[in-house]
Amino acid sequence: MIVEEGLVKIYAPAINIKGPGKAGDIFYNRAMVINRDTTIFLLSNLKVKYALDGLAATGVRGIRMIKECNVSTVINDINPKAVEVIKRNAELNGIETKITNRDVNSLMAEERFDYIDIDPFGSPAAFIDMGLRSGRILGITATDTATLGGRNRKARRRYLVDIATPPHYTHEIGIRVLLGYVGRMAARFDLGIEPIFSMWHGHFYRIYIRVKRGVSNAKRTLEKIGMCEYGGPLWLDSLHDFSYLEEAKLPSWLPSYEKLKKYIELWKGEKFFLFHHLPTISSYLKKSTPPINRVIEYLRELGYEAYRTHFSPEGVKTNAPRDIIEKIILED
Ligand SMILES: C[S@@+](CC[C@H](N)C(=O)[O-])C[C@H]1O[C@@H](n2cnc3c(N)ncnc32)[C@H](O)[C@@H]1O
Repeated sequence: MIVEEGLVKIYAPAINIKGPGKAGDIFYNRAMVINRDTTIFLLSNLKVKYALDGLAATGVRGIRMIKECNVSTVINDINPKAVEVIKRNAELNGIETKITNRDVNSLMAEERFDYIDIDPFGSPAAFIDMGLRSGRILGITATDTATLGGRNRKARRRYLVDIATPPHYTHEIGIRVLLGYVGRMAARFDLGIEPIFSMWHGHFYRIYIRVKRGVSNAKRTLEKIGMCEYGGPLWLDSLHDFSYLEEAKLPSWLPSYEKLKKYIELWKGEKFFLFHHLPTISSYLKKSTPPINRVIEYLRELGYEAYRTHFSPEGVKTNAPRDIIEKIILED
């Protein structure tokens, strides 16, 4: 079957509409269009010459990187059947590029790339060490959101953390666990990381980071990682590079243009650690939850910064203390 996505056409032997899919499929996952669109959003705004689509399956992402961002891209998959599909797709789109059938870790051990896309089934943990040493910028997917968000006990083993969080914080904590893990792994190699932007959508987390060389960057990164009242260690600093978000242009042809535009607006307001979850505070106060926009307006009138968050439709990120929120709910 042939599908169209962005500016490319893709032959896909299997199509997955919902959910993360599973190992062994060479599948085209429609639920991941928005994930791939974020790669195009990134690469159309940064100077990247040489990239790697390291776990490519049908090659759709790498082919889009070439066609839509003009970035010279090596497309790789460990599965020889996937490599056949990638070759067919390169031909279908009239592109010539290097296509390899390697374990991405050995490829990354040998070569340096300006950008590396790491898009595995499940946890990216196995690809982080070599990714950090090989790439200047990394785009990393994690679909093991239950582990990262502390909803199963594997987090201790996989990410070396202990997490117990209320359900409404699970996704922000999950992304912070992932960033914290990548940051700690980086420091071992005298590397540091800086997030460009971070996203939760449905069943996946996606982070984009710059890798910074040198001891001072490694130290600075470790200073941004620590414990919070729900456990850790996790990333305590900013999830996004706000100057990037202010300046970056969202390409108009992206299939998820409208959705991403909304996300970007929300990310711009994610300036504080966690958020106030209005239903939780309201139920503690035995009051009904006021409309979120009204709470935000009140807070701004009082001189505080207040924003919505993509992590929860009923969450407010603000520098106001909790008792001010309580007062607003009680007086509403
Ligand atoms: C989730 S799929 C990739 C989807 C693709 N990036 C996209 O956007 O449609 C994961 C792929 O990683 C490949 N893979 C798994 N382990 C790998 C490894 N060690 N090196 C390279 N590829 C690997 C699998 O064969 C599979 O095709």
